[in-house]
Amino acid sequence: MYNKISIRNQMKETLSRLTKPQYEDYSYKIACMLFEDEAWKQAQVIGITISKQPEVDTYQIIRKAWELGKQVVVPRCNPKEKRLAFRTLNEFSQLESVFYGLFEPIEELTTKVDADRIDLMIVPGLAYTREGYRLGFGGGYYDRYLLNYRGETLSLAFTDQLVPEFLVEDHDIPVSKIITNHGVINIK
Ligand SMILES: Nc1ncnc2c1ncn2[C@@H]1O[C@H](COP(=O)(O)OP(=O)(O)OP(=O)(O)O)[C@@H](O)[C@H]1O
Ligand SMILES: [Mg+2]
Repeated sequence: MYNKISIRNQMKETLSRLTKPQYEDYSYKIACMLFEDEAWKQAQVIGITISKQPEVDTYQIIRKAWELGKQVVVPRCNPKEKRLAFRTLNEFSQLESVFYGLFEPIEELTTKVDADRIDLMIVPGLAYTREGYRLGFGGGYYDRYLLNYRGETLSLAFTDQLVPEFLVEDHDIPVSKIITNHGVINIK
């Protein structure tokens, strides 16, 4: 019941039931709360993924960051090593579809940015506990990346993505805050 694989499958099923109006409404509310957050306001360089439905929409967040003069950096996966590298994103045309329909920065058009230059990391996931533990898509990419990351972290989640618990493993690294469509959960 609480193993990661069954929660991942259950969560994908739950999220597939969100209607487009609900998806837009909740994503908008989450984005508005993020824009009021101190870590967001202070951050000059923001690490964020390009959302793929049914993840909380990040396109509107990236546009807002650009409007505010912030630097957006997005991950490119190295599937062999299961590692991420963040690269500058100045316009959506700098993205290409690599695998699983994910959009990633085109290497020739973007520049790599090291972890110590990123002020705020918006960490993606499928399900979360109120303690900030995160169930990702199963690659361990973010767990590896966060080991060497010292900036602020937070995640964006639909309320449905909160789960009572799951089997947390030694390598799982929690986020400091979760912003849901019903409010902010501060963890530390
Ligand atoms: N720091 C690490 N070093 C080595 N292996 C790791 C590390 N972190 C995670 N892994 C491995 O990655 C695999 C996937 O981990 P897990 O199920 O926690 O993924 P996830 O949290 O869903 O993915 P992600 O971090 O990409 O969102 C596991 O087999 C785990 O052992
Ligand atoms: Mg993990």
